[in-house]
Amino acid sequence: MRADPLRDPSGPGWGAAQRVLHWATALLVVAGFVIGLFMIGVPMRELLLKFVLFQIHKSFGLLVLLMVLARLALRFRSGRPAHAPMPRWQAAAAGAGQAAIYALLIVVPALGYVVASSSPIRIPTLFLGVIPMPDFTGANRTLFDALAPVHRWLAILLVALAAGHALMAVLHQVRDGTTLRRMWRG
Ligand code: HEM
Repeated sequence: MRADPLRDPSGPGWGAAQRVLHWATALLVVAGFVIGLFMIGVPMRELLLKFVLFQIHKSFGLLVLLMVLARLALRFRSGRPAHAPMPRWQAAAAGAGQAAIYALLIVVPALGYVVASSSPIRIPTLFLGVIPMPDFTGANRTLFDALAPVHRWLAILLVALAAGHALMAVLHQVRDGTTLRRMWRG
């Protein structure tokens, strides 16, 4: 009888595409978050730097959105390998944390797009510095003032959850010697 891949931790690890998307998303979220915090404080007299940082921030965020959609598609198509052996409550907590991270990986960039679109300061969003993105709200200060803080706080929550997820992965790696390796080398 074939082992159930969800219950057999000795089975295959994550596929190559899933691994590349996982680490690329992690890198872009951290870089986009740091740039986001920094770009806000750049004074207007350094307009070129501010403009470039905003474009990098927005492009990284949109890439995260595209990647997470690709990851979800792969996840539904190919599933996931077995969890490392752990108590049932820990597996449930890990599952809930991962679901929240997936949700935030969609909501945070989508909100960022609405914030950029409604900004009273009209700066175009150029994806990867060249592709003009449609601006579907027009300047709307009320919307901008309402959503910009939500974008910021959900981004902070996303990074905090991702840090907790990373910490748990390292602890499991120390204990079982496989958790990180399966996401790194398959
Ligand atoms: C995972 C993706 C993203 C993360 C983690 C993130 C994070 C952040 C952070 C930390 C800030 C600074 C907030 C502050 O201190 O007030 C910020 C600001 C901003 N983000 Fe994002 N962001 C993401 C995606 C996006 C996307 C896709 C766009 C637009 C296409 C965007 C547009 C903006 C804009 C316009 C601001 C400035 C808001 C203001 O002027 O107050 N972000 N973001």
